[in-house]
Amino acid sequence: MSETIRLDRWISDMTGLSRKQAGRMIRGKKVTVNGEVVRDASFMADPSACVVALDGQNLPYENFQYYVVNKPAGVLSATEDKRRTTVVDLLPPGHRRDLFPAGRLDLDTTGLILMTNDGQLSHRLLSPAWHVDKRYIATVDGILEKTAVRAFAEGITAGTDLEFAPAVLEILETDADSGTSEASVTIHEGKFHQVKKMFEAVGCPVRTLTRVTFGPLTLEGLPEGEARKLTEEEIQALRDCTQTRGKDQPDEDEM
Ligand code: URA
Repeated sequence: MSETIRLDRWISDMTGLSRKQAGRMIRGKKVTVNGEVVRDASFMADPSACVVALDGQNLPYENFQYYVVNKPAGVLSATEDKRRTTVVDLLPPGHRRDLFPAGRLDLDTTGLILMTNDGQLSHRLLSPAWHVDKRYIATVDGILEKTAVRAFAEGITAGTDLEFAPAVLEILETDADSGTSEASVTIHEGKFHQVKKMFEAVGCPVRTLTRVTFGPLTLEGLPEGEARKLTEEEIQALRDCTQTRGKDQPDEDEM
């Protein structure tokens, strides 16, 4: 038998309703367990044995949830904010209430954010120890030269105390008329303002920045401002890419 869960918590976790609202649903005879109406919010349900339904819709219990969001500029990578729209506000209804962004993007950065409540996976995806690639497309002021590609490959040092691991810079386009360039950069760290600082260090400040991949995840087919649940295959691919640590890294318990 797996761990049992109070019925009001089950409904709350799986719908985003508060516990109070969930209790109201239960007392209002809207919830069934294995086909029978249960009106007791403290009923303990076993996820491996119970089919719980709300208004006739099955509501399987999921310990962990995973969504990918395509964040527009101006949306905050946070779980709540009094003034601004957050990435949580972009999730479709029915998500767990304890989801958080696995890594942040700046307010003006757009693109891929993973939302989950799986703390261990999130830690591994973000830790440089696991070498999970994140790819960005940047437009920058200035004409990028091959020297920048070499500097990124060697590892940028920005200022005296900031060092970034080797990264892959590909120059996609340079426009002499506007004096701008477009480039792809792939990093496996996630330091504060990292990509912007790396481009600044080679004299080309970032104008726009979009994260287009995160490990095996891409933004394909996901319009800006929208979110979708990951498929089982995508979740497995995320787990797979956190199975092998970078050779140069200490054990997790040493960190
Ligand atoms: N690097 C940055 O500078 N900003 C981001 O939002 C993400 C990576």
